Amino acid sequence: MARPSHMVVDLGALIHNYQWACQLAPKAQTMAVVKANAYGHGAVACANALEPYAPAFGVACIEEAIELRKAGISKPIVLLEGTFTPDEVTVAAEQGFWVMVEDPTQVHAILNAHLSKPLTVWIKVDTGMHRLGLSPQKLGGYYQQLLNSPNVSNNIVFATHFASADETNNSFTSVQLKVFMEATAPFNQPVSLANSPAIMAWPEAHGDWNRAGFMLYGNSPLDAHHPSSEGLKPVMQMCSAVTSLRHIDAGETVGYAQKWRADRPSTIATVAIGYGDGYPRNAESGTPVMVNGHRAGIAGRVSMDMICVDVTDLNDVKIGDPVCLWGKGLNINEVASHAATIGYELMTRVTQRLPIKYTQ
Ligand SMILES: Cc1ncc(COP(=O)(O)O)c(C=O)c1O
Repeated sequence: MARPSHMVVDLGALIHNYQWACQLAPKAQTMAVVKANAYGHGAVACANALEPYAPAFGVACIEEAIELRKAGISKPIVLLEGTFTPDEVTVAAEQGFWVMVEDPTQVHAILNAHLSKPLTVWIKVDTGMHRLGLSPQKLGGYYQQLLNSPNVSNNIVFATHFASADETNNSFTSVQLKVFMEATAPFNQPVSLANSPAIMAWPEAHGDWNRAGFMLYGNSPLDAHHPSSEGLKPVMQMCSAVTSLRHIDAGETVGYAQKWRADRPSTIATVAIGYGDGYPRNAESGTPVMVNGHRAGIAGRVSMDMICVDVTDLNDVKIGDPVCLWGKGLNINEVASHAATIGYELMTRVTQRLPIKYTQ
């Protein structure tokens, strides 16, 4: 006996997607980005599955990197935002973490540190996103200072991040690419530009290192259909079941604030998933769910622990029937579009209440 709600994570699909990212950019080394608990899929389990294949992992902060090291991950781990405090520089050197340097404060923290061994440093260049990165004009000075420091090993990589690579017709990616190439050409060092959308749709941005995140989890970040998305298999499946059923008359309402009103005699299935599990509360009526493999739409507001689904058009729905909220057969991006968000957010929002079942 148990609440029938859980998440299935298909590690075989994760490995497949990683290999697809490598196939799309065969000349690059591809880092697996497993920040934010591997986009909600479980960082340790995903990194363990990918470690035989991936040459490095990417995380957002040192706490995430330490979690992986403690779990036995021995490959390099890149701190994609670098260090937040000077003492993290020492820990990064001890643990063999690679450090992104994106701001003068971080440069000085590295130059002034007392390290037992040199750090591997990636220099992030602000090519137009204006969120992180050293300015292209000042790059040469910082590069020389880092290169000359005994705290820095001489395998420096130059990196940047794209603002709009998911928009396949937005020329801003080409603008950023040009700024990056001009700024880094004099130094002749390895480069890293591409996130998932750039791996999939901007081959000219494939560098020596690519950084694959969202696509590893099996969905396309692109704004339009693209052949590169055909190789992706969804990794996360959010699952529950019908736990209650009722017939209501035309004119009756369903759920909090009576937001959905039956325009005909209707059958309503209650499903044990809600915003307490990470299902988005702002999913509108009509948001698709799969009941017994057939599409139906949400009726009324999402509650903390339950949703109601209009199954009037489905035959023979019973208590216990399986429900898929997203995953195979129902794309997470489609669900996200009914909740004014993106697949990235839905994945990372899944809460700890939902047990994860890993499959190969
Ligand atoms: C610096 C950096 N590189 C790579 C990624 C991975 O991006 P995506 O999930 O779109 O592949 C991110 C994610 O935000 C990032 O911040």
